[in-house]
Amino acid sequence: MGKNILNLSIIGAGAMGSAIASGIHLAQKKILANPEIKVPERYENTEIKLSICNRSQEKLDKLSKKIDFTAYEKIEEMISSEKPNLLIIAVKPKDISEILNSLKNISAECIIVSVLAGINIKTIEDRFPFNPIFRAMPNTPAQIGSGITALTYNKHCNDEHKNLVQKIFHAVGDVIFIDDENKMHAVTALSGSGPAYFFFLAEALIQAGINQGLNLEEASILVNKTFLGSGLLLNSSNEGAMNESVNSRSNNPSPETLRKAVTSPNGTTHAAISSLENNGFSEIINQAIQAASQRSKEFS
Ligand SMILES: NC(=O)c1ccc[n+]([C@@H]2O[C@H](COP(=O)([O-])OP(=O)(O)OC[C@H]3O[C@@H](n4cnc5c(N)ncnc54)[C@H](OP(=O)(O)O)[C@@H]3O)[C@@H](O)[C@H]2O)c1
Repeated sequence: MGKNILNLSIIGAGAMGSAIASGIHLAQKKILANPEIKVPERYENTEIKLSICNRSQEKLDKLSKKIDFTAYEKIEEMISSEKPNLLIIAVKPKDISEILNSLKNISAECIIVSVLAGINIKTIEDRFPFNPIFRAMPNTPAQIGSGITALTYNKHCNDEHKNLVQKIFHAVGDVIFIDDENKMHAVTALSGSGPAYFFFLAEALIQAGINQGLNLEEASILVNKTFLGSGLLLNSSNEGAMNESVNSRSNNPSPETLRKAVTSPNGTTHAAISSLENNGFSEIINQAIQAASQRSKEFS
C-alpha cells in the first residue's frame, strides 16, 4: 500500500512555530505510529508533508538549515498550493485578524490549531464555522521536546481529529486535554508562562548563592542541577520509572511529599521554608498567577 500524505502547514516561524516544526521533523517517524495513542485509520501509513509560511524570509532560511519543509512568504499561496489537512497558526495574537483574512480559501475539512494566547476558539469559529478547531497552549520547553501542551477544541472535533492533534503535539512533549475553554486562562498563567517563573526563581537562587560567597559558576551549576534533578524526581513514578503519558503519572509523589522528605524539623531546609512561609511565599505566587490569568482574560 502506498503512503498517504498529511499536509501540515504552519503559519509563523517564530519561537513557537519553529519549535513545533522542529519537533515534528525529528519525530516524523514515530508521531503517526506512537503505540500509546490509537492511530486514526485514515492516517495509518501516513507521511507528514510540512510547509511553513513566515512574513520575513530570514527565519525561513534559518529554519531550513535545520529541517526540511516547503517555505512560503504568502499565506494565500501556501493554502492554495498545499491544501493543508492540518494548519497550525503560530503568530502573535495581535496578528490574528490579518491571518484569518488570508485563509478564505481553506477547506472546511482542514483542522485549524491556534497556539495564540488569549484568542478564543469563537474568534476563529466566527470566520470558519464548519472547521474542526483546536486551541493549544504549549510552552517553551517544546524547543527540546519537553513541553506540555494543553488542548481544547470545538464541537466539530471528533476522536480522530483529537488523536491526530494529540500525536502532533506529542512531538514536542506531553499533551493534556482541558474540558472547558474558560480554563485556558489558568493554563496560560500556569504552564504557558510557567517556564519564566522557574527561570526567575533560578536567577534569585543563583544571586542568593553568590551573596553567600559562591562564585557565579559554582552557584549556576548548583542551581541548574538541583532544578534538573528535582524536576526529574517530581516527574518520576513511585517506582522511579519515567512514563511518557501524562495520565500514567497519576501515582507520582506530590511536591508536598517530596518537600517534606527534605525538611527535617529545625534543620537548614526548615529554616528556609519557614522564612518563605513567614514572608507570604504562597500568597505571592497566588497573586502572580492571578495577574497572569487576568491579563490573559484581557487579551481575549
Ligand atoms: N513563546 C512562548 O512561550 C509561547 C507559549 C505558548 C503560546 N505562545 C503563542 O505562540 C504564538 C507565537 O509566539 P512566538 O513566541 O513564536 O512569536 P514570534 O517569535 O514573534 O513568532 C511569530 C511569527 O509569526 C510571523 N508572522 C506574523 N504575521 C505573519 C503573516 N501575516 N504571515 C506569515 N508570518 C507571520 C512572524 O514573522 P516576522 O517575525 O518575520 O514578522 C514571526 O516569525 C503567540 O500567539 C503566543 O501567544 C507562545
